[in-house]
Amino acid sequence: MVENGRQRRLLRVLALPLLALSLSGCVTSPTEHAGHEGGAADLTAMSEDATGLPASSASRVVALADGDTFALRAGLVSHDVGSREPVRMFAYNGQIPGPTLRVPQGARAVVELTNGLPYETTVHWHGLRLAASSDGVPHLSQDPVAPGASFRYELSFPDEGVFWYHPHVREDAQQDLGLAGLILVEGPRVEGEARPRELVAVVDDLLVDEDGALAPFYEEAATHAVMGRFGNRFLVNGSLGWRESAAPGERVRVHLANVANARPLNLVFAGAERVDLIGLDGGFLTEPTRVESVRLAPSERATVDVTMPPTGNVRLLHVAAGREAKLGILVADANATGAFTGLAPAGPHVRARESLAPALALARATPTVNLSLDVAMPDMGGMAGMDHGGGMEPAPIEWEDEMGAEMSALTTRDVTWRIRDDATGRTNEDIRLEFAQGSLVQIRIRNPAMADHPMQHPIHFHGQRFLVQSIDGEPNPLPAWKDTVLVPAGSSVVLTLEASNPGTWVVHCHVSEHLEAGMEARFVVA
Ligand code: C2O
Ligand code: CU
Ligand code: CU
Repeated sequence: MVENGRQRRLLRVLALPLLALSLSGCVTSPTEHAGHEGGAADLTAMSEDATGLPASSASRVVALADGDTFALRAGLVSHDVGSREPVRMFAYNGQIPGPTLRVPQGARAVVELTNGLPYETTVHWHGLRLAASSDGVPHLSQDPVAPGASFRYELSFPDEGVFWYHPHVREDAQQDLGLAGLILVEGPRVEGEARPRELVAVVDDLLVDEDGALAPFYEEAATHAVMGRFGNRFLVNGSLGWRESAAPGERVRVHLANVANARPLNLVFAGAERVDLIGLDGGFLTEPTRVESVRLAPSERATVDVTMPPTGNVRLLHVAAGREAKLGILVADANATGAFTGLAPAGPHVRARESLAPALALARATPTVNLSLDVAMPDMGGMAGMDHGGGMEPAPIEWEDEMGAEMSALTTRDVTWRIRDDATGRTNEDIRLEFAQGSLVQIRIRNPAMADHPMQHPIHFHGQRFLVQSIDGEPNPLPAWKDTVLVPAGSSVVLTLEASNPGTWVVHCHVSEHLEAGMEARFVVA
């Protein structure tokens, strides 16, 4: 197998010097690593030159009606990330994040993409059950769109919920550099009944070095292939501090999305009177559920109703691993405006219960598809294992990248992350899964604690929706139609996939670097 050859080569060029470094306890920076073979040594850094680029603008809300055509242009901008100088980033229609599309459920629309980037790209419409030919997976649904070229996406919006769009070429760079936008699909409304004001909070993190520049991306491969690229600066809706206002006692609806490459988020609205979780990914919960925090893996979305206290502000925080990051603030203001409103959704939770009923009935069905997750990486002298406690239980979720520079330097050429089909032993692109259209498929995904480098993986199925039945045998307390599920290290998740949408699709890990490192399989619905 190719992997073995690759592993042998890496043992020679990487593992020995790295082992020596890790044993001497010496900490090196990724740039020092460029000095020896392997890692990013022979890669070409993408340009970071922002001179002369137009400044980005804030995301705008665009209402699309059935039959509309919308022009979307991916291009270069200069963007303020809180450093002395703005940095070179990518944007849809000049906006970071890209325009928020509001669309009525059941509508169809055309998006004409123009590629104004110096790189190939595509757009994937994450979670939409649309035609496979518009799904944006390069070399499967379409050819990559060359610089200067265009592509016509025919979108349909069969489900009410929160979806998003992003490139499916080098997500590790293109998505992180700003290419991501939300899609709010709105179901039936109650005439005359106003709903709460709505806000969006698209959360990302960027890796910025001491000089305020973005840590480099490389043309040929992604670095941070083991943990994924964790950032050290949070952006909400493209800026350093999210700032909105709400009246004392007001209930506002907030659509949250995690568009980070690798970082899982644990979001808290500190000081809120209460927070009610309404929906996840592409669907409403069977009933609103009061929560203290919302955990969002990369690519997951959630909708919450936040009730302001009688006095005082509410802060949006990411709270994990004993640390607290301030993401933004809802300022108490009796005259708050600035969000969008419309008519209240008509009985969304009743509709969710009805449409989930056949899948909910399969709670105890035996899985017919068993997938497991692991990695093939260079032997780091037991370092990977040591960092996870040397044979002790791994952390179910790693909230930070604590692995150090040696690991960060490993690229997607050095590491292969794998989805394995347990029945055949096949991995990644060799897997052949076929599901009958209209069937409900019971799938177990295991993330073994004893893998070389156990860590959490957000697993995403294209073109279909699923219900998470259980995690480690415990019934899922938050049933909703979803498209991404976080499988913690050492855990096993059972889900029911509704194989509704014909075509050839992919299932993959949504840690961008894991996808680049091969963690993707195809499945056919026919
Ligand atoms: Cu957002 Cu293939 O995924
Ligand atoms: Cu780790
Ligand atoms: Cu992964």
